[in-house]
Amino acid sequence: MEPNLHPVILRFDSLDSTNTEASRQAIRGASEGLCIVAREQTAGRGRQQRVWTSLKDAGLYCSLVLRPRLETRSWPLITLMSALAVGDAMLETFELKSDIKWPNDIHVDGRKVCGILSETVETAVGRAVIVGIGVNLKSHAETQELFVDAISVEEATGLLPDSESLLSSLISAMARRYMTLHQLDGREEILKEWTARSSYAEGMRVRVTLEDEILEGVTRGLASDGALRVQIDEGDIRLVHAGDVTALRSVS
Ligand code: BTN
Repeated sequence: MEPNLHPVILRFDSLDSTNTEASRQAIRGASEGLCIVAREQTAGRGRQQRVWTSLKDAGLYCSLVLRPRLETRSWPLITLMSALAVGDAMLETFELKSDIKWPNDIHVDGRKVCGILSETVETAVGRAVIVGIGVNLKSHAETQELFVDAISVEEATGLLPDSESLLSSLISAMARRYMTLHQLDGREEILKEWTARSSYAEGMRVRVTLEDEILEGVTRGLASDGALRVQIDEGDIRLVHAGDVTALRSVS
């Protein structure tokens, strides 16, 4: 059965983390589609236990509760699907074209404009997925020097972005992409679209930092579970399921 996301938005002035609040709500039985939004986060989290700096009104900080009816091997694709949805919303709201750095950083001009943190949480009615999305909307003098690799929508477009329009477009795009993922050929569709949208998918020379090793090689598409295929210099293909990927230079 395809899901029908009926979003309910809960807004907060300040939260520790919208992901943490969404998890709390999911444990209390929140339905699929609950969206937590905060104007600031005091303990915003990124991938790999990093801090996600979340100054008041400088970004869109939101988290969506999902209760997927998917086979387990499709769950990693929720992250890829979310990156596609953010790209859709950026284009629709700001006419801003973006790239996806594996697995789900959204880049503009090679700099990060959005990060996505997907987490699972066990609840009485089954495992839920929390998709947390942080978009840099405005530039702040106090953070600019710290984050040279980051860009804001304001910097990229020269306009003062409206977070409400972005949120509403993002929720619609998430609902659309999530529905696609639940269709019969949904996995293939999401993998195909992600590959078409990301300059990292094919032929990008990358360095991959894993927990206990660093690899260098050339990207060779995605595996069926969303892992990045990297042809290392010895010629073997390695499947990267987690880790940090950095572009070195493009090759054909
Ligand atoms: C990353 O790129 O490392 C992921 C960053 C995810 C940040 C968002 S902001 C909204 C939600 N709440 C959090 O604490 N993190 C995510």
